[in-house]
Amino acid sequence: MIRTITQTSLFKTLPLARTVVFPSLTACRTLTTHQKLNINPDMPITMVREVLDSKPVPMCEEFIAGSRLTTETLENIDFGEGKHREPKTLGDKGAYYTVKFLRLLPDTYFGKDHYMRAVMLETIAAVPGMVGAMLRHMKSLRRMTEDHGWISHLLHEAENERMHLMTWMKCLKPSVWNRLLVLGAQGIFFNAYFALYLVSPKTAHRMCGYLEEEAVISYTHFLQDIDNGIIKNGPAPKIAIDYYNLHPEATIRDVVLAVRADEAVHRDANHFLSDRIAERKEDFLEDIKTEEYLHRPHNNTTPSTA
Ligand SMILES: [Fe+2]
Ligand SMILES: [Fe+2]
Repeated sequence: MIRTITQTSLFKTLPLARTVVFPSLTACRTLTTHQKLNINPDMPITMVREVLDSKPVPMCEEFIAGSRLTTETLENIDFGEGKHREPKTLGDKGAYYTVKFLRLLPDTYFGKDHYMRAVMLETIAAVPGMVGAMLRHMKSLRRMTEDHGWISHLLHEAENERMHLMTWMKCLKPSVWNRLLVLGAQGIFFNAYFALYLVSPKTAHRMCGYLEEEAVISYTHFLQDIDNGIIKNGPAPKIAIDYYNLHPEATIRDVVLAVRADEAVHRDANHFLSDRIAERKEDFLEDIKTEEYLHRPHNNTTPSTA
């Protein structure tokens, strides 16, 4: 008590004592970021900032900037209805018919249970981007050459699919059996896709393109069942409103429209990536390597060329 009173009076009367004589006491009175946020002091401050600042960025241009999206705007997004890439090579045909066969499983098991079907779909759909990015990363290290933007795009695709999953998980609680199904499906699909990408990245991206064609069809069916009153159109989860920059009264129907727009991007991007491998033109930034582009100021939104 005596010590506290002495210090207090000294602090009041001698400003110099506050800053020079008792610097350690001053430090104690100023809460650090860790203390303010009640974060483990061993966590590096850079890591704290990184975790707090990280925010998933949508893929489609429409969701990134501007005013909040209305239902009308979402309905007017061109998702390339009925768009299909005709399989030409043997690899294309193998990829196409494999996807068509795989589609029979959720069609049979989930039927019109669109929420659980979407959850299962997204747990699978988020795998190819991560596998592709990982193997591209390894290739870049092995060959000691630039990646030309593939890794960042594929990681972004994987994150985008994971955000779809996080959104649908706000709408249902999967049973233990369905969780086991997800576990098994991931174990099989991850390894199969990894092996396919090692053998033929061209076919792997083609297969992913066909998976995304099916995803667009599945979300179109989801939408039709909402419009036909088979599925209740409840309010959109907050995570989706924030991520897609939707209007505050957005509904599940709006979210389905937004997710379908993403799937259309994945479809077109993966077919494009497969074509570029076939053409041996994997540096798809070469067309825009102008002086202006090369000397642009660095920021977090530019594609990685690591
Ligand atoms: Fe998805
Ligand atoms: Fe997708």
